[in-house]
Amino acid sequence: MEMILKQIEAYKEEINALEMNGPASLEEYRLKFLSTKGIVKALFGEMKNIPTDQKKEFGAVLNSFKLFAEEKYENWKLLQEAAAETAPSGIDFSLPGDPMPVGSRHPISLVRNEIVGIFRRLGFSVAEGPEIEDDWHNFSALNLPENHPARDMQDTFYLSQNPDWLLRTHTSNVQIREMEKGKLPIRIVNPGRVYRNETISARAHCFFHQIEGLYIDEHVSFADLKQTLYFFVQELFGREVKIRFRPSYFPFTEPSAEMDISCLICHGKGCNVCKHTGWVEILGCGMVHPQVLENCGIDSNKYTGFAFGMGIERITMLKYQINDLRHFSVNDVRFLQQFTASI
Ligand code: PHE
Repeated sequence: MEMILKQIEAYKEEINALEMNGPASLEEYRLKFLSTKGIVKALFGEMKNIPTDQKKEFGAVLNSFKLFAEEKYENWKLLQEAAAETAPSGIDFSLPGDPMPVGSRHPISLVRNEIVGIFRRLGFSVAEGPEIEDDWHNFSALNLPENHPARDMQDTFYLSQNPDWLLRTHTSNVQIREMEKGKLPIRIVNPGRVYRNETISARAHCFFHQIEGLYIDEHVSFADLKQTLYFFVQELFGREVKIRFRPSYFPFTEPSAEMDISCLICHGKGCNVCKHTGWVEILGCGMVHPQVLENCGIDSNKYTGFAFGMGIERITMLKYQINDLRHFSVNDVRFLQQFTASI
């Protein structure tokens, strides 16, 4: 018994001195000490040779040695597994990642956001309304009664379910809806998609986008209209741009005007874009017709206002020198990818 206890002590020392350097040495250890043909098992086999009165003591020593040997094994195993997880995997984490394709904003959205931003700075808020509209909000309330010749310029698509319903021809329907709410003063811009029964060409489409503005309060004058639009144009196109107003006609404004800006391409000298006039038309505007105010329940003796409307496609074509309006809707990524911006 003395000898065998010494032997166990020697094994302990041997185990303590062991160094594991990989799965192979761990397996070697397991086979030597813990397997069915291993040392621990063999020591238990010695039990039968131990005198009965010493069996208990020997059993206790043996058990603690067994636990010691097993615990060592488990600890080494855990250490090896942890080492395997953090070992170099062959992946170079410092390399740049796979590129993620990020889309770009549509040029119409870019320009719309820019225009809205300018008017927001002037205190205008954004209002929107339906694209399927009734006759009243698109035409009649705007002084365009049935059979009025001005309707010819805005032929559109009617819904077969209800002859009173149509696809709106301008975003002025939103202005009527805001005025009908009866909350004054009003200072809004209305961006949105509009429809017209036009032959599709480089300059026209059956749908396009507009942004209109409306300002109604006491004492609003044509001077306010001019200064607001002058500020807008300078913000959008730059300080050197000039503007001019030409008398025009819209049934819903009186007086009415078209506003031109000096040509951005030739700076007024004359080129193809401005048809050699030095000026390009960008919007229609005027003082809201008193009858339109009355149609919406607003006292035209107390309140006045101005309105303006422009096509976003047209502004975008001028700004980016795009020569065909159809580019905006064919979804050709070679065209769309050229526009990047964060707004
Ligand atoms: N609604 C007009 C159009 O679509 C534009 C406009 C708006 C003109 C407001 C004057 C005042 O043609």
